[in-house]
Parts: sequence; structure tokens; C-alpha cells
Amino acid sequence: MRGKCSVEFMSQSVSRRVREFHRLFPDYQPTPLQSLRQLAKKVNVDKIWIKDESFRFGLNAFKVLGGSYAIGVYLSKLIGVDEGDFSFELLKSQEYKEKVGNLTFITATDGNHGRGVAWSAKVFGQEAVVFMPKGSSKYRINNIKKENAEVVVTNEYYDETVKIAANFARENNGVLIQDTAWKGYVEIPTLIMQGYSTLIDEIMEDLEKQGESLPTHVFLQAGVGSLAAAIQGYLITRFGDNRPLTVIIEPHNAACLYKSVKKGDKKPHSVKGSLSTIMAGLACGKPNILALEVLRDYADFFVSCSDEIAAKGMRVLGNPLVNDPKVISGESGAVGLGLLIEILENKLFSGFKEKMNLTEDSRILVISTEGDTDPDHYRNVVWDGKYPSR
Ligand SMILES: Cc1ncc(COP(=O)(O)O)c(C=O)c1O
Repeated sequence: MRGKCSVEFMSQSVSRRVREFHRLFPDYQPTPLQSLRQLAKKVNVDKIWIKDESFRFGLNAFKVLGGSYAIGVYLSKLIGVDEGDFSFELLKSQEYKEKVGNLTFITATDGNHGRGVAWSAKVFGQEAVVFMPKGSSKYRINNIKKENAEVVVTNEYYDETVKIAANFARENNGVLIQDTAWKGYVEIPTLIMQGYSTLIDEIMEDLEKQGESLPTHVFLQAGVGSLAAAIQGYLITRFGDNRPLTVIIEPHNAACLYKSVKKGDKKPHSVKGSLSTIMAGLACGKPNILALEVLRDYADFFVSCSDEIAAKGMRVLGNPLVNDPKVISGESGAVGLGLLIEILENKLFSGFKEKMNLTEDSRILVISTEGDTDPDHYRNVVWDGKYPSR
């Protein structure tokens, strides 16, 4: 691995610590890992597993894993305890009130991360202000408001909204909990990425319990790339060269990781403009600089997708073959499964199938990172057939 970046920040000891932290939450439960046996048979592969993050802490998406860990560690440092010694009893203590006082956590989001930050701030007895890009879904806005956060919808797209949140935090003595890193802002995003390790750790634990061997392929959707890089890092530190192949997926109009890796000059490259896609969680024009390094050095494939691929994934997961479980998966959640099916079934993509070595022995893991976070749009796609397959 000479010449490649270090992934020590995603070490197994870090993942164990993160998992212990999440177990402190009274509502913590691993989310389900489902095996789509009939679908695997139909598309002629050995296994398709799908991790269903719609069950995460009742918040309908995985994102809270990152924000909660970052806020937990931040607060633990203020109180002077290791995050492993953090407890909900401590929250009620006079010491907590004296040492921490009243804080405001600030973030920008297209929905899921902000909801996770708002929820975590509430759980820890603090406040949150959440900035959202223009055009944000009313459901996603209301769900954040329900967590007692103040929501500000800007007149800008996602990347500018992140800047607005960062400036607001600086000017108002707030604590920025942003899920992407840039030069000079890496500590919190590193914690957020570490927080995501609980998701892959649960998967590996489930597979082990079921006596299953490792997946051969992992399909990972990406916005800024934090989730994909966290999982990539975990797979490297746990399995080294025996790790599964990884496929990184972005929307056509927001493929900033694809663009940056393709340029080959080791710099982050942005995608500008409206980033128009139904995959709101993946509509990010600037890569996380830490995630980009990890993915550039270790990920195996980068693919950009049209919205129709995500829509197909939503329909397949919502209308399973007999005896397969149903998974309610939103636009950003379903694109991995949509792409997999398209590659396996559409002759136009047989070149991809060969390159990725997808065969009848393949065991593929996909992650449904969100449920129907915009229920109207979910039904437009799944009931009314919006974004039909081409
Ligand atoms: C549902 C969903 N899936 C995937 C992602 C992508 O995560 P990241 O921005 O870390 O690449 C997001 C980001 O907000 C999301 O909301």
C-alpha cells in the first residue's frame, strides 16, 4: 500500500469505540440487513444483501450516526471525559450544565444530516440551527423543525449553503457540525466519518452471525463521499487486500468524485450549477477532501447515474419478488440497487459487468441509506411511474 493515504482514522479500535458510543443511546438498535434471495436468483448472482437504514433511530436515514458521534465527542472533551465514559446520566448533572453551558450546533444539509444533527442536539440538551438549500423538500424541512431546530432555507444551492452555515457559526459563536471536510476544517468531519463505521460494523457482525462469507462487491452511493470513504476505510483496516471491490456511485449532474479522480491530478474538482437530480442527498458539487483521498487511492470503480436508475431501484425494492422482503428506499437510498440491477440485466452494460467481475458467484452488498424522506416524491416514482426506465 506504499504511496497510498493512511486510513488509520478508520481503524478497528476507532470503530469499536464508535459502536460502544452508539450503544449508549437508549433507542439504539442495529438496522436490518436483508437478503434478497429471489432477486439474486433472478439476476443470476449468489447473494444480494441490503442494509435498511430507514430504521435508524426512527429518523429514516443513516446520517445521524455521524452527527451524534461528532457532537458526543465534542461535548465529552468539554466535560473532560473520554467519549466512552459519556453517559446520559451525566447530561442531567450540574457538572454538565456548568462545563458545557448552552451551545448551538450549526450545519447545512439537504435533509438527512441536518435532521441527525438537530436530533442529537436535542438529545444532548442543546440547540441547532440548520441551513438548507433552495428548493428543499417541505417534508425534510418539517422533520428538522420537529426536532426543535431553527431552519433557514437559503437562496443558494448546497455548496454555497455550506459556506453560509460556516460563516454563521463563526459569527455567532456556534459549533459547526458539517459532514464534509475542506482545508482547515477536518476534525469534525473526521469524527462524522468515524461515526458512520457503526453501519458497516453492524453488517459485518450480522454476516458473521449468519455464517456468511464476505461480500465480493460493495455498492456505495456518494454525495461528498464521507460515507463511502468511511466504509472503504473500515474495509481496508479490517480486511486488507481481501476486502470486497467497491463501486462508488454519484448522480450524473453531481459527480464530483468521479470528475476529481478522472482528472488524475490529486486535486478536488467541483461540479458547478444546479446539480439537478432527484437524489437530493447526493447533490453535492464539492468532494470531502479526506474522503476523496481515500476513495481515489482505494476504491475500485466510479460510476455516475441518471435519475432513472435511482427510480428503478426504488421500484424494485418497494415491489419485491415473492418471499423477498420489501424495503422502502428513497431516491439517494435506492441508486445502488438500481445500478446493480441495470448492470446485471441490461445488455448495454455488459461491459461493466465484465469489468466489475460480477458473476454467478458474486455476493453483493448494497446500502439503502434512506427511506421515503420525501413521501410525496416517493409515491410519484413508485406509484405513478415518474422517471420510467429507459
Ligand atoms: C440518504 C443519503 N445517502 C447517501 C448520502 C451520501 O453521503 P455523503 O455525502 O457522505 O457521500 C447522503 C448524504 O446526505 C444521504 O442523505
